[in-house]
Amino acid sequence: MAEKLIYDTDPGIDDALGLLLLAAAPEIELLAITVTHGNTSQDKCLRNALQLAELCGLTHVPIARGAQEPLVKELSVAEETHGDGGLGYAQLPEPKLQPVSEPAHDLIIRLIEENPGEVTLLCVGPMTNIAVALLKQPGIAKQIKRIVSMGGAIHYPGNVTPQAEYNVFCDPEAFEIVLNAGIDFTLVPLDVTYQCLFTTDHLSRINKAPAAIFDFIKESTRFYMEFHAAYQGIQGCAINDPLAAAILLAPDLVTYRDYFLAIELQSPTSKAKTIADHYGALKKQPNAKVAMEVEVEKFMDLFIERMNRLA
Ligand code: RIB
Ligand code: CA
Repeated sequence: MAEKLIYDTDPGIDDALGLLLLAAAPEIELLAITVTHGNTSQDKCLRNALQLAELCGLTHVPIARGAQEPLVKELSVAEETHGDGGLGYAQLPEPKLQPVSEPAHDLIIRLIEENPGEVTLLCVGPMTNIAVALLKQPGIAKQIKRIVSMGGAIHYPGNVTPQAEYNVFCDPEAFEIVLNAGIDFTLVPLDVTYQCLFTTDHLSRINKAPAAIFDFIKESTRFYMEFHAAYQGIQGCAINDPLAAAILLAPDLVTYRDYFLAIELQSPTSKAKTIADHYGALKKQPNAKVAMEVEVEKFMDLFIERMNRLA
């Protein structure tokens, strides 16, 4: 039975690669794509989601406009990382597809209530849409099968401040609401995603994908690699969101640790830091399963193999 999934995303170059992976995953029944602010504005992320759905044959999947800005803090965007349009150097045709009229949080609530206990939320952007859905309809917390969240940094440095990872940084209050909602919660932090560096060698192995998809991957990751080299001295680009998607297909790609996880919300220097109680010092029950090790080449092989399957 395919896993029912809602993809909550801020496309975004790695978000886009994650969507391509979901498009090549018969294990997944994609119920909806819900769009959040994050890598760029809601308007640009929504346009990107529509264009990407047309690129990878997901035009049957409802795409919903989500939050324009975070719950509390001001809007952040990362156009130095993903480009002004949010997809690097890639150029996609004007979308013909339209979003559904239902706002993202209402679509999330409705799909969960229509499929109690069966829907997984794959969250690869700021958590604003999920938090708004939980605030509006707290009862869905016990009806969500599980949440898989790309976000946070445990022992690894932050990628937006010395301590904070970008998705959590963009809306830390929303992340805390979701983390503390009592839902089966899996975190895929920078500790594992920054080991998964997609390079031109990996790109050269994508040799069976349709030209439009290959060109998209090439041109979007070309920008993304330039960012990683210039800002972080890294060769290649961290494909964060595809790893979070891949563990739905192959859970044994990563090794998990059960942690009590908290979010720093007060400190001016450490705000949005994800804090894992590694030795159980606080004597609190774990509230998250955190991916702390990854089989990098096994993941890359899976990603490339699936890209080559896209028709
Ligand atoms: O920190 C990496 C995360 O922030 C990824 O989801 C990337 O797309 C950005 O949203
Ligand atoms: Ca993202």
